[in-house]
Amino acid sequence: MEEALAVSQNRLLRGVIAALTSNGELGAVLGSVIDLVTDATGGDACVLHLWDAAHDCLVLRAASPSLQSAVGEVRLRLGEGVTGWAAEHRQVVVIPEDKWADPRYRYFPELHGERYTSMISVPLLARSGDLLGVFNVHARERRDYDLDVLKLTASLVAGAIEHADLFQALAEKEAALAGMMRRTIQAQEEERRRVATEIHDGVTQQLVSIWYRLLACDRSLDTDRAQAARELEAAKLLVDEALEEARNAIHDLRPSVLDDLGLAPALRALAHRQLTGETTLDLDVADDVALPAHHEVVLYRVAQEAITNICRHANARRVKIALYEERPHVVLVVGDDGGGFDPAAGRSRMSFGLAGMTERVSLAGGRLSVHSAPGRGTVITVLIPGVGGEQQ
Ligand SMILES: Nc1ncnc2c1ncn2[C@@H]1O[C@H](COP(=O)(O)OP(=O)(O)OP(=O)(O)O)[C@@H](O)[C@H]1O
Ligand SMILES: [Mg+2]
Repeated sequence: MEEALAVSQNRLLRGVIAALTSNGELGAVLGSVIDLVTDATGGDACVLHLWDAAHDCLVLRAASPSLQSAVGEVRLRLGEGVTGWAAEHRQVVVIPEDKWADPRYRYFPELHGERYTSMISVPLLARSGDLLGVFNVHARERRDYDLDVLKLTASLVAGAIEHADLFQALAEKEAALAGMMRRTIQAQEEERRRVATEIHDGVTQQLVSIWYRLLACDRSLDTDRAQAARELEAAKLLVDEALEEARNAIHDLRPSVLDDLGLAPALRALAHRQLTGETTLDLDVADDVALPAHHEVVLYRVAQEAITNICRHANARRVKIALYEERPHVVLVVGDDGGGFDPAAGRSRMSFGLAGMTERVSLAGGRLSVHSAPGRGTVITVLIPGVGGEQQ
């Protein structure tokens, strides 16, 4: 008996190792887990639910071929059915037969519960103790299970899922980084083209006009001094315009208020300039935060976009802007009590503001989070490394 157990444990171990050393992709790992668990427990069917922290529920993510159609269809809250009970209490539930007699049992037509009399639910926990999911094994006949094998299976499977999760997160991060680099270079190119066109169409044209005015002034200087003075006047006006154009172009690259005033006063000025009228402003902006210059630009641009969004979409009565240090980070918060929205709903192809903000912040080694829900306001929080925090 013991020998048989050792053999099945060995097979399980080998299977998990094989799943781990394959390409590590979550879908493939879950598929192998179903086979391994069915094999290790000798059940007739197996399903695996993963915990979806964002939606507070267990989602059926993998199943034996006979229950494949339930994948993605069954969602359970904590405490719902035997599976939800196992997840909530983090305890293995073993029902050798007549599961209908167990008050925790709930019938799910998608899972063809009528076919099986025996079931087990085994919670899968991460090393941190967090819930990863639950696997269930169903059997047509009465079945007794070895708790040790179940626990070993659970810990190996949890390890495999955690590993695949990390692998997936890493792969996604890598892809996001590559995409970000590509878009940043593209954005830089576009920005250069735009600035070049602006200088060409603006300042260069004005300098040419100034040149002609000065030429005309020079020609009339001896013959018609009044005309020369008019030409000079026109040239002076053009110089003013050119200066203004040049300033605007420079402002687009780095807001000059940041150099003139510093971040905190620049944020206050921005808020007062854009949010006028009925909106009550609650400014809690610290003057002494220490930030690298390029991170100041990031926070200023985020605040600009967040405030523009508030003006365009929120219909808010109160707006709060806070800036403070939380070493080694600096935190910027822009919140409003307006209409809110569902940040999880995919963004439209025409909306770049939030995506751009997130990208800017993450390129600077920071994090941006959006908390919002329809009718419940919006809070944008940015955490960015301060001076000395850049290596963290
Ligand atoms: N403070 C807010 N209050 C309510 N809805 C908001 C707020 N901020 C953003 N939204 C919603 O999120 C969507 C996406 O915002 P985002 O800034 O990415 O794009 P946009 O403002 O529509 O366009 P743009 O690319 O010009 O910024 C908006 O269309 C709006 O529906
Ligand atoms: Mg926007």
